[in-house]
Amino acid sequence: MSPSLTVRRIAADQGAVFRELRTASLREAPYAFGETLEDALLADVTSFDATAARHASSDEATSFILYTEGHPAGLIGACFEESALRRAFVRELWVAPAVRHLRGGELLVNTASEWIASQGVREIYAWVADANRTAMRFYERLGFGPTGEHTRTADAWETLLVRHVPPVAEPPAP
Ligand SMILES: CC(C)(COP(=O)(O)OP(=O)(O)OC[C@H]1O[C@@H](n2cnc3c(N)ncnc32)[C@H](O)[C@@H]1OP(=O)(O)O)[C@@H](O)C(=O)NCCC(=O)NCCS
Repeated sequence: MSPSLTVRRIAADQGAVFRELRTASLREAPYAFGETLEDALLADVTSFDATAARHASSDEATSFILYTEGHPAGLIGACFEESALRRAFVRELWVAPAVRHLRGGELLVNTASEWIASQGVREIYAWVADANRTAMRFYERLGFGPTGEHTRTADAWETLLVRHVPPVAEPPAP
């Protein structure tokens, strides 16, 4: 039987869970992220506590955690860029190998997209390394397509993808 998957926004006291998921993702899929495992391990533990506390209530940046039977098994970040464009991004997406292909990644992206859309923003962006064919296919299957923006980071070419989401329905007037 498939395990049940749920997603919840990070809570203010989940710094340790956030650090555990972030380091697990960098250890397991170092090719997928700009940051390195060493960066994360060297970071002060309290910085993860501070991020969790901020992400629990901020309107600018947040994280969502995937659970399988109550155990943390995946992560996604969502944030608005600090520029006049204020584009919204999903980032740091990772699902533990044991629970892949069960739509946990889709649930994370859709939950993060709903949080972004609830703030009135209809385009969701994601940078994906060109060599990460799995992530490319995953995002394409969810309706993301190329923006035409392409950049070279320290060690990889990355493509900017975008998905247009429908507006969040307003409740009917009383
Ligand atoms: C990308 C990732 C989050 C997908 O998570 P997931 O929970 O398996 O995703 P879902 O079950 O919602 O969707 C899986 C779909 O994505 C695509 N996909 C996932 N893995 C794939 C693979 N190895 N090859 C081709 N397509 C793949 C397929 O369309 C697949 O559908 P299927 O299971 O019916 O074949 C996961 O593979 C992962 O954590 N990878 C390592 C980290 C990473 O690359 N993150 C993205 C950074 S941009």
